[in-house]
Amino acid sequence: MLTPTQDDSVERSELCTEEEISTLVYGFYDRVRADALLGSIFNQHISDWDTHLKIMVRFWSSLLIGAGTYSGTPMPKHVALPELNADMFKHWLALFHETTMQLPNRALADRAEEYAQRIARSLWYGYQMNNQPNRIPSELGNV
Ligand code: HEM
Repeated sequence: MLTPTQDDSVERSELCTEEEISTLVYGFYDRVRADALLGSIFNQHISDWDTHLKIMVRFWSSLLIGAGTYSGTPMPKHVALPELNADMFKHWLALFHETTMQLPNRALADRAEEYAQRIARSLWYGYQMNNQPNRIPSELGNV
């Protein structure tokens, strides 16, 4: 269970609406799909974007407002993607930051950013442990 380390004064249920989360998710994946580095990876692996976006809204709603509607397992899905690297995770975070910067709800933006940073680092670590077990795992550094 992830617990936020900052901005604890805001109760999860009061942080934002699901509509605000949809705006974040759809805005972010609009950027991702149009992106020169990441767009082709996502488009190769996701045939049904409508379903993927609904899953992602459930994922973020569960993290941000405790909706409890996401029950997937992100790690094995990412571990199975061929040829991911640190630059891709850093770029994912940069696109996410561009999206959160535009949100008027700053408490939501900060909380989402914190989760994204933590999960990206964890996915990248897990990716390396699974796919490059003989190498010392690299860090994403400050993104
Ligand atoms: C280089 C960075 C990343 C790439 C290329 C990537 C790519 C993908 C792709 C292709 C899928 C669909 C997999 C499938 O359905 O088989 C997916 C699913 C998903 N990704 Fe990522 N991802 C990245 C980073 C992240 C990060 C940082 C997060 C969270 C903050 C995240 C959260 C998820 C979640 C929750 C799913 C849905 C898993 C499910 O079906 O339950 N991803 N990602």
